[in-house]
Amino acid sequence: MFSLTHLNTFGLKADASHFFALANEQQLPELLSLVQQYPHYFILGGGSNVVLSSHIEALIIHNQLKGIRLLQEEESFFLVEAAAGEVWHEFVRYCLEQGWNGLENLAYIPGTVGASPVQNIGAYGKEMKNYFHSLTAINVYTGEQKEFSLAECHFAYRDSVFKHEAKDYLILRVRFAFPKNWKPSLNYADLKNFGGLSEHSSAMDIFNAVVQIRQQKLPDPKVWGNAGSFFKNPIVSSANYQTLLQQFPALVAYPQENGEYKLAAGWLIDQCGWKGRALGAAGVHDRQALVLVNRGGAMAEDILTLAKAIQHDVQERYGVLIEPEPIFVK
Ligand code: FAD
Ligand code: EPU
Repeated sequence: MFSLTHLNTFGLKADASHFFALANEQQLPELLSLVQQYPHYFILGGGSNVVLSSHIEALIIHNQLKGIRLLQEEESFFLVEAAAGEVWHEFVRYCLEQGWNGLENLAYIPGTVGASPVQNIGAYGKEMKNYFHSLTAINVYTGEQKEFSLAECHFAYRDSVFKHEAKDYLILRVRFAFPKNWKPSLNYADLKNFGGLSEHSSAMDIFNAVVQIRQQKLPDPKVWGNAGSFFKNPIVSSANYQTLLQQFPALVAYPQENGEYKLAAGWLIDQCGWKGRALGAAGVHDRQALVLVNRGGAMAEDILTLAKAIQHDVQERYGVLIEPEPIFVK
């Protein structure tokens, strides 16, 4: 048995029947033959967006591939490649230190570079797809290596092809294009209200501000195990939004490019009175109702019981289904 308790930021007690540490691409033939031998596999990066059950009868592929390199410098952009096992936040910092600006709003997101395209990570007004160029992945059943372009990844809010048709691809390397005509992006409310940031701020100033904001709002997984936002912000039609707004004038929502509205799930949960509440070992963070926390010794079932109770209350009051963001692993 391989303990996964220290490999998931929720700190859920979990183990797996089989485990493979992928530290370099030369190990891929060995890995592919192992995948054939077991009924299931699961690719694990930093474990910051998963809910692990106590025993997982599968081959866990732990991505530890490292390396960052500048592939090309063009007149208008830098093309940079990072191996999938690089730590996201360290990669962001490294890029800024080289003058490759763009990812500063996405600072301090836990996890790996290889997982960043899976849900197209986003924060503070930016998404990974804004700087994505292409990636290389391998189909773990057929061994086929494929380059995915931006268009082929089908990026959307917390979504990509890697959650659907391409879910049997292990992402090996991701390439980013950083334009040289960089400008600060400060439209997100928390950044506007931060104070001291302006169009003259450097990318490193924004990076530091984002780190501070996140440290204030989000629980440190080392203290309170968590997986960040537990639910995605639900997207509703304009008609649905207008009806809700009449009934709940303080409703927090963001208009989308296609005319739909993204509702702030944290607000919905907060209004249902869940902020700071707990059910056994699972609780709702007292500063951000969208974040569920492990209060000590929680198992996947504790988190799921709490999540279902919250989902039920939000559905009953607002008629809106909020869907979990983390991936459940059995
Ligand atoms: P894991 O949790 O290990 O895996 C997540 C999924 O990706 C799984 O399905 C896994 O199989 C798949 N996967 C991982 N690596 C690969 C690979 N190489 N190839 C193919 N599939 C792979 N997310 C945001 O978008 N924005 C935020 O602001 C944000 N804030 C967070 C704050 C906190 C405190 C925490 C704990 C989480 C937060 N998250 C946020 C969620 C999480 O950090 C991201 O989803 C992150 O990209 C997950 O990376 P990981 O390496 O930990 O992936
Ligand atoms: N709100 C409340 N009560 C709460 C929490 C939030 O009323 O308890 C309100 C806030 O006042 C604000 C609105 O809801 O008006 C949105 O809150 P916030 O700015 O904190 O962002 P969020 O929608 O809760 C999203 C992402 C985060 C990302 C932040 C910053 C999702 C599911 N979550 O959170 O991503 O860091 O915006 O951009 O889209 C993650 O995916 O794991 C994650 C942490």
